[in-house]
Amino acid sequence: MECKFPKDFIFGVATAAQQIEGAAFEDGRGLSIWDVFSRIPGKIKNNGIPDICCDSYHNIERDVNMLKELGVDAYRISFSWSRIIPDGIGEVNQAGINYYKKLFQALKEAGIKINASIYHWDLPYALSIKGGFGNRKIIDWYKNYVDVLFDNFGADVDFWATFNEPIATYVGYAKGFFAPGLTDEKYARQCIHNLLVCHGEAVKLFRKRNFVNSKIGIVVDVWKHLPANPNSQEDIESAIYNNEIEGYGMFLHPLFLGGYSEIYNKYLNDNNMMPQVEPGDFDIIKQDLDYYGLNFYNGLYDDVEKTKNASKDEAAGGNYQDRPELHLEVLSDVFKMLVDDYKINVPIYMTENGMPQDDGAGIENNLIDDDRIEYTEEVLRLIHEAISQGINVKGYYHWSLMDNFEWSAGFAARYGLFYSDYDNMKFIPKKSAKWYHDYIISTKDIKDLN
Ligand code: NOJ
Repeated sequence: MECKFPKDFIFGVATAAQQIEGAAFEDGRGLSIWDVFSRIPGKIKNNGIPDICCDSYHNIERDVNMLKELGVDAYRISFSWSRIIPDGIGEVNQAGINYYKKLFQALKEAGIKINASIYHWDLPYALSIKGGFGNRKIIDWYKNYVDVLFDNFGADVDFWATFNEPIATYVGYAKGFFAPGLTDEKYARQCIHNLLVCHGEAVKLFRKRNFVNSKIGIVVDVWKHLPANPNSQEDIESAIYNNEIEGYGMFLHPLFLGGYSEIYNKYLNDNNMMPQVEPGDFDIIKQDLDYYGLNFYNGLYDDVEKTKNASKDEAAGGNYQDRPELHLEVLSDVFKMLVDDYKINVPIYMTENGMPQDDGAGIENNLIDDDRIEYTEEVLRLIHEAISQGINVKGYYHWSLMDNFEWSAGFAARYGLFYSDYDNMKFIPKKSAKWYHDYIISTKDIKDLN
């Protein structure tokens, strides 16, 4: 089905520093928590380590050529904090600055807009051993880093994001399967609170600078849980827990409505999990944003009875690598919720969406990825439907440009439009790459009819 999109609708692709850059020990880069965590045996599938990844640090031209081949309007990346400031605080690494300068120059020459996250999960290890996000000093460390970025790239970046998917920080401190690998829920709740204050402070710093052509926002993923059986109290409670206590609610409420929600407050008090909140924190967190970045992958139905009876191996996890059945229709509900419940009245960009293939399926199968095409087409159809119902969605970024380091799944989960042959450092367009290119072109032709 052909869809008309608004004239200024952006089609892009997304990546992140830790997942593609490699060059982990070059040109003065400091260690990140993922460099260290990935070396703990058993933490990453097949013991994958992100030392080289797609070697993007050395291949700016190659990456930009891939973007040109797709014909995208924008490229979403993230800065590596430990490449810019190796110890997290203190000396700035000029080689790191130069890398992003060169990348941005090449993107500008290609007419591709830049969307950059300040933080995409890769805290400098030097800060982690000082307590990381749980140490309130993180606010000053982060502000210092943000100032360095604004000094060097402020006006170059079209779309700034303070954080990508802050839930990963919660997972890293509470659940243990993301870096830094702690299992301390109370500490994790403190980390999240501090992170939200960092966000607010970054927006305040941005406003002082007055970069007229740049925008700032935050990217929060929404995996909306619904009760499998709407009459089951257990299913309803499970969905509420997953949305409000361990999901998007703990971010969207303070960011857009102010303060913690009643449900979240009650949970924190009842379970002795309340973080230390300083006077004024909630005012700092709730800043006016220029846009909201939605990462959407799937919707989930909670079936408590089924989960109880499942063996440990079968027990459903939080995302769809564990629950492969697709419930994309939940996206319509998500848009409605963002606008009606969270009162989000700024433009929404879908900053990530995509699906993984198993590396084990082999290159031939990975290259003919009809399921990815079908999946993406359906998500774009739902976005189009939302726009025609008055939801202000202004862009779509596919995750990802190429297969890359998929965190705990290592190199086993392939999300790329390009197939990454890591042995030969060859990047081959999958069927979906050609499809995305054609989709963008055909939509562009009719974009301004809307
Ligand atoms: C979420 C993250 O932002 C990104 O880093 C990750 O690779 C994708 N989604 C897929 O899991």
